[in-house]
Amino acid sequence: MTATTAFWLAGRRATGETTFDVTSPWDGRLVAAVSVPTDEQVEEAVAAAYAVRDEFAATPAHVRASVLDHVSRSLVERTEEIAQLISAENGKPIKWARGEVGRAVSVFRFAAEEARRFNGGEAQRLDTDLGGQGRLALTRRFPKGVVLGIAPFNFPLNLCAHKIAPAIAAGVPIILKPAPATPLSGLIIGELLADAATALPAGSWSILPVANDRMPALVQDERLPVISFTGSEKVGYAIMDSAPRKHCTLELGGNGAAVVLADYASDEDLDWAAGRIATFSNYQGGQSCISVQRVIADASVYDRLLPRIVAAVEAQVTGDPSDGATDVGPLVSEDAAKRVEAWVREAVDAGATLLTGGKRDGASYAPTVLTDVPADVSVSCEEIFGPVLTVRKVEGEAAAFAAVNDSKYGLQAGVFTHDLQTAFRAHRTLEVGGVVIGDVPSYRADQMPYGGVKQSGVGREGVRFAMDDYTYERVMVLTGLQL
Ligand code: SIN
Repeated sequence: MTATTAFWLAGRRATGETTFDVTSPWDGRLVAAVSVPTDEQVEEAVAAAYAVRDEFAATPAHVRASVLDHVSRSLVERTEEIAQLISAENGKPIKWARGEVGRAVSVFRFAAEEARRFNGGEAQRLDTDLGGQGRLALTRRFPKGVVLGIAPFNFPLNLCAHKIAPAIAAGVPIILKPAPATPLSGLIIGELLADAATALPAGSWSILPVANDRMPALVQDERLPVISFTGSEKVGYAIMDSAPRKHCTLELGGNGAAVVLADYASDEDLDWAAGRIATFSNYQGGQSCISVQRVIADASVYDRLLPRIVAAVEAQVTGDPSDGATDVGPLVSEDAAKRVEAWVREAVDAGATLLTGGKRDGASYAPTVLTDVPADVSVSCEEIFGPVLTVRKVEGEAAAFAAVNDSKYGLQAGVFTHDLQTAFRAHRTLEVGGVVIGDVPSYRADQMPYGGVKQSGVGREGVRFAMDDYTYERVMVLTGLQL
């Protein structure tokens, strides 16, 4: 009999009247039964968060920072247990799950550091003009209001951390909703917070596994003026369109491109590029918004690069996510794998060449490489969110950059080049939120600004950037000073 996992209501453990099951995408076993908050409990959490806005904003920085430091240290101590949990509920190979815990450790540590620095205030002299003589402007940031954080399944711990840690750092109450398929990793943050958070106002944080069909009421709730959503383009824009007067940050999809240019041509260069491309088109089954989906290679290196990529993709170890040797486990569900299968079939029917992979077994999909892919099929223009890579030959840098930009998405791009001028041209030309030189688009350090342009969303995460997003500048003008 599996014990019921509680949720976190205004900083305390609580259970509702019903539960739902979380099962492993690998073998279908029951991982946990999770308690669902009732409507009354959701209302209690929202009312409590709203009530403590001023008190939380006034909590001293050292108090908020020490809670965040505690969570960071606890994650270190419980890394193996939490990695096992991520792997069990998400199907993520254990080595990637351990990496995810390590990233969450950093997110809470960065948040503690930022809490100590944040909002020191910026002074600006105004006596630059006669009318401002004797005046000084002091700018500080204040919370926009309670945040509704909605997290996805693909990084069930770290993308919850990216919502809740900056909120605590900035003194902004948050209601966090983890993904229904993977709520356990988000709920464990509550356990770690609760150990230390008695110093915080009780209502300042809740973690509520509310079903998606109950979310419209929360999205419309005027007490929650800030929505921070990570997930699909369809759901993100539906939220934004249904609440146009709210501040929405949307971290949506991408179809990450890795460009390999003519100067990246030695055997060593091509081995590195192929290895990184193969690893990061398949990590966590390709279920990352910045996984490599499109390789765009200069004609001069294409024939030497392609076989290396195929060999490196075929070397990926597939199978049981709990095995430390596994690189690629199942997708989050069999339906997800069936969608990937249908998109690959569509591409092949339209003339694409399948070089490796292309097979499904339950929720697992084999690492796949396609070439000669028509521009208008789903694997070219949508986000695959599966272990599928398309490789295309282009003539020169300008054509390569144009190919990257020929997408409705703009999250991150990787450019393999050694040339500094090319790097700056890429930074200037590519319509994305982040350009990674000498590596794949999948590189993300958690303190960097992270987010997209075009249909990849609006706003930025990355601890400090989320704190800015949850707050606004308020200026105070002091008069009659001797400056
Ligand atoms: C995402 O899938 O958007 C998150 C990627 C990451 O944090 O590495």
